[in-house]
Amino acid sequence: MNSPSTLRRPIALQWILSLSLSISASALLAACGGSSSNTEEAAASSKPQVFEQSTAPKKLSEWRLLINDGKTLSLNAGLVPYDLNSALFSDYSSKLRSIYVPPGKQIAYKADGTLEFPIGSVITKTFYYPKATPSDAANLGVAKQSGKAQGSSLDLASNVLIETRILVLQPDGTWSGLPYVWDADQKDAQLKVGGKDVAMELVSAGAPNQKFTYSVPTAQSCQQCHSTATAGGAGILPIGPKARNLNKSYEYSAGVSKNQLVNLDELKLLSGFTGLAAAPVNADWRDSGQTLEARAKAYLDVNCAHCHSSRGAAFQSGLMLDFNSVGQTTASTVQWGVCKKPLAYGGPGAPYLYGIEPGQADVSLLLYRMSHTTTGDVMPAIGRHLNHEEANSVVKDWINSLKLPACL
Ligand code: HEC
Ligand code: HEC
Repeated sequence: MNSPSTLRRPIALQWILSLSLSISASALLAACGGSSSNTEEAAASSKPQVFEQSTAPKKLSEWRLLINDGKTLSLNAGLVPYDLNSALFSDYSSKLRSIYVPPGKQIAYKADGTLEFPIGSVITKTFYYPKATPSDAANLGVAKQSGKAQGSSLDLASNVLIETRILVLQPDGTWSGLPYVWDADQKDAQLKVGGKDVAMELVSAGAPNQKFTYSVPTAQSCQQCHSTATAGGAGILPIGPKARNLNKSYEYSAGVSKNQLVNLDELKLLSGFTGLAAAPVNADWRDSGQTLEARAKAYLDVNCAHCHSSRGAAFQSGLMLDFNSVGQTTASTVQWGVCKKPLAYGGPGAPYLYGIEPGQADVSLLLYRMSHTTTGDVMPAIGRHLNHEEANSVVKDWINSLKLPACL
């Protein structure tokens, strides 16, 4: 770790929020289930620092959010790791997510929509893969995500870090999005507002290796998904931290699991929480104990609805894939694709005529676009280069199970 003096920048260029020791200690206790070995001075000298977009440092280490000792990547004290019931598919990468709330501040709970974060909050998402040996040395060899993200650290001997995305809530109330790309030596990550393409090869047991290009998005393109208004332009918003996505258990350290909303509440980071009994919950799309509808809805909500909703980039298409639209039969089912002819999309032609043809997944355009990676067909429109076989099979079973009149 760098010494604090080498990291300190002129105060005018920087917006520093101090982390009180009491908060840092309690967050660490709950997050790690044990006592901190840090002395008070060590904790004070390594506290997280928060920057605005205009002063964002080139190196990720300067934020002091993630600590990399060359062997392990871990979250600094005061950061709370989290996971989602159903998450965004990003070419089989795994993700370590964290929330940082400035000392003494709280996130306002709400049952619907993104929770309301206080100014100075930072959310990080680190994309990584288990290491694997590629057949072609020109590619970075990675393995399919093996399990669910847990804990608050990553073993760097067995994992390779690709990028860390940061969302920070600035003093003017707007969120800023910053992509940091990890160096080949894995010691630090650099701010790359232009994004980066990485040649990779996915190695999976029992299937042929797949070469693909992993795309770190540009800072500009955060807006396409994190939009607050149709066609962007009105700023960005976190997508995942909604009550129904966070309402799940997380293993903070080996054997120490807790519901994530309860944990935030106990850490005094959540205001207005009305208790678990009243909190909505999304299905985990992988959970075969849930109905196909619940699984498909949860998957489409987190993978598509940020564009396919009233304020997303795909609003004009008229296809609404948010949690409240998909599956409803009270208003028009066309809204979520049933017997809906595409507006702009040319598509492959007959027999692929509608978004969803009930009972006939194999000719439904919604599944077609999820199971192709060709430009013009691929959905989500950005950020995917591999097919998500396991999720596509759930969506396929769900469409085949739909008992609605056939399309005319
Ligand atoms: C293809 C769509 C897409 C793009 C492009 C995208 N994101 Fe996201 N991002 C998501 C979705 C969906 C989630 C929530 C689901 C999850 O975390 O798995 C998310 C989650 C996040 C999170 C965790 C907090 C949250 O909002 O849930 C951060 C931080 C983040 N993104 C940062 C960025 C940054 C910075 C950029 C631009 C460099 C970016 N994202 C570009 C779709 C996108
Ligand atoms: C980054 C934004 C974005 C995301 C995320 C996204 N889409 Fe789209 N989608 C679009 C845009 C823009 C259009 C309209 C242009 C077109 O059809 O290509 C569209 C159109 C479509 C259409 C044709 C709709 C019609 O009736 O005209 C389908 C089907 C579709 N998307 C499916 C999906 C599915 C399924 C997902 C999630 C797995 C998804 N999309 C995620 C941006 C997105």
